[in-house]
Amino acid sequence: MDESSILIVGANGQLGTALQKKYPNARAADSGTLDITDADSVASYNWSGVTVVINAAAYTNVDGAETEEGRVAAWRVNAQGVANLAKAATAHNLTLVQVSTEYVFDGTNELQSESEPLSPLSAYGASKAAGEIAAQSTQKHYIVRTSWLIGDGKNFVKTMISLGQKGISPSVVGDQIGRLTFTNELVRAIEHLLSVQSTYGVYNVSNGGKTVSWADVTRAIFTIAGIELKVTDISTDQYFADKPGSARRPLRSTFDLSKLEATGIVMNDWQTDLETYVKKELIR
Ligand SMILES: NC(=O)c1ccc[n+]([C@@H]2O[C@H](COP(=O)([O-])OP(=O)(O)OC[C@H]3O[C@@H](n4cnc5c(N)ncnc54)[C@H](OP(=O)(O)O)[C@@H]3O)[C@@H](O)[C@H]2O)c1
Repeated sequence: MDESSILIVGANGQLGTALQKKYPNARAADSGTLDITDADSVASYNWSGVTVVINAAAYTNVDGAETEEGRVAAWRVNAQGVANLAKAATAHNLTLVQVSTEYVFDGTNELQSESEPLSPLSAYGASKAAGEIAAQSTQKHYIVRTSWLIGDGKNFVKTMISLGQKGISPSVVGDQIGRLTFTNELVRAIEHLLSVQSTYGVYNVSNGGKTVSWADVTRAIFTIAGIELKVTDISTDQYFADKPGSARRPLRSTFDLSKLEATGIVMNDWQTDLETYVKKELIR
């Protein structure tokens, strides 16, 4: 596939940065170049030569979206912005890759398949669910749902390494269960879907391996980093007890990966990628 016909939108975020590394010859637009909430700018963008638009732009402040202003901003970017891109995709015969989240589900099912009905608990989740529906309005779409994303930028793994290095024994949520997704692995899955020209539709994408809690992930980080500190499990309710106004989180982020893997890709175990990631962070 000709990289130069790919446009990465939201190119300077965590995922956008990984996409740019994978596709150095792709076009890359940050919010200054292309604000996806601006319908006129999206419609009048020079789409000539573009065949695929990968939307890595999003309002990702989950708790911020619970505020009056944040709710509006989340819906503008995550729902209206996607509708604007979907319209352009239809007008210019583009393939739209829309990145979504497990927060479109309430996390009550043991395993989340692509066909589970949407059931968001939070304003962020609702805005992303609306974005999925908007993306489906154009025929050539991949909706790639992901969870617990780790790449460049501030993230859970870096925070835990930093706490560990300061000698702080953390209390970490032990009742949210899921799997990490490394941005490289998400990018590999997106590239795979595009290159094998998989059937359009929704795909759940995370690393493979067993599902664990955030506290378990912290213990794995500490083991790799040689940090000998105790990690105490606390419940989600305990963690958010002194944080009024926080968004409700799904307790399970456990994707069924069989639809994705049936297209001919095997997702790396998160523990393998975590080891590589932590070791790189330690020598930074
Ligand atoms: N992080 C996670 O744990 C997680 C989990 C599941 C799914 N996801 C999904 O994965 C995707 C990528 O997330 P991420 O962690 O890479 O996000 P991120 O680091 O917060 O980056 C989001 C990017 O979107 C850009 N953006 C915001 N508003 C925009 C607009 N109106 N027009 C154009 N660009 C705009 C931002 O640019 P500015 O800074 O210039 O505004 C930023 O570069 C998102 O769809 C997110 O919902 C993330």
